[in-house]
Amino acid sequence: MKFALLWLALAGCPKSEQKKPVEPSHPSGAEDGRQLLPANEAGVAALLPAPPLPEIPLGLPPAPAGVLEAVTPAQVALGELLFRDPRLSKSSRTQCTTCHDLANRYNGVPTSGSPSANDHRRTPPELENLAWNPRAIAAFTAHFAEQMGQDLASATNAIEDVPGYRPHLERIGGAHDEAVTKALLGFLLTRYDAGSPWDHQERSAATSKDPVANGYRLFIGKARCGTCHTPPLYTDGREHDTGFGTPTATRSLRGVARRAVFFSDGRARTLGDALDNYTQDHPKTELVKIILSPPERADLLAFLEALTGVVPTAMLQPLP
Ligand code: HEC
Ligand code: HEC
Repeated sequence: MKFALLWLALAGCPKSEQKKPVEPSHPSGAEDGRQLLPANEAGVAALLPAPPLPEIPLGLPPAPAGVLEAVTPAQVALGELLFRDPRLSKSSRTQCTTCHDLANRYNGVPTSGSPSANDHRRTPPELENLAWNPRAIAAFTAHFAEQMGQDLASATNAIEDVPGYRPHLERIGGAHDEAVTKALLGFLLTRYDAGSPWDHQERSAATSKDPVANGYRLFIGKARCGTCHTPPLYTDGREHDTGFGTPTATRSLRGVARRAVFFSDGRARTLGDALDNYTQDHPKTELVKIILSPPERADLLAFLEALTGVVPTAMLQPLP
């Protein structure tokens, strides 16, 4: 393994400096996209510079003080790998993406039928815009231990000796378990979801009569959605008794059209079905039944669709 890595490292050198490997054990270091540069004196492969941090897109407020300042590109580059690595779990079979599916705005797993289910009674919420979600940041360490079956220190022990992770941990510096925590959080804190068609339109044509603008007026007016799904985050961050499962914090509606299941109990599989939950009676809950004409329903759906923003792309480097 060590030899393969060294060879990968050498394959990244300019031809003239390249020593001929005795027995190439890997077809091509360059083609598999690994970010390795020539090994340093200690024999540890150095990493290419981590990509710059994504910018906060149009539509989000400034991040709360103290949340993003300490996030570095090196943390995010490692976090993107760890988010997909099952070795962090006690069973070595569950990774964050088992439940937080990257293809569906981190939410796409039905409530049953998944392997090594820990919390499949609830569908996961969106993970984007975590920087504005102090409740979820505070719950992170406990959530990790619950879902991975071991705490961050034990998970760190399981991965810190993987040769491909060592240069990542060294680049971040400090204690390894702190580096792992910072990496996962740094990755998630920089997953922004904004810059949607509505974010652009809201500023240019707020009074226009098109369906999306009309949908927004319904959203904050007659349909009452905005009282809990408050712009610009489209959540008030507070718990409400909606009768959908147990009382739950309001989910953000940014990117909602890209999710595969809706509500924590997974009761809706399309955005239309999700909306129709609000046009029914919900006795003994905070929800007031709303009545929408078919054109109003269509406009409200067009508005929710226009909340689909541009999210930072994950690099999807192979796991070391
Ligand atoms: C077995 C499924 C499962 C796994 C594995 C899992 N999560 Fe979660 N995650 C959830 C569920 C369900 C919630 C929502 C919890 C709730 O509603 O109380 C959640 C919530 C979160 C939240 C808070 C989001 C919010 O807005 O409240 C964060 C952050 C998070 N997960 C990150 C992670 C990370 C990082 C990993 C990997 C180390 C991970 N999760 C692994 C199911 C999972
Ligand atoms: C009283 C507060 C409240 C009001 C009013 C409200 N919602 Fe919600 N909404 C919530 C809460 C809380 C959740 C999370 C419930 C859960 O996960 O089970 C939610 C979840 C959702 C979801 C699912 C999101 C996801 O990622 O799973 C959609 C879609 C949604 N609301 C749309 C709307 C629309 C459209 C309106 C207006 C017609 C509306 N909501 C009005 C509180 C509210």
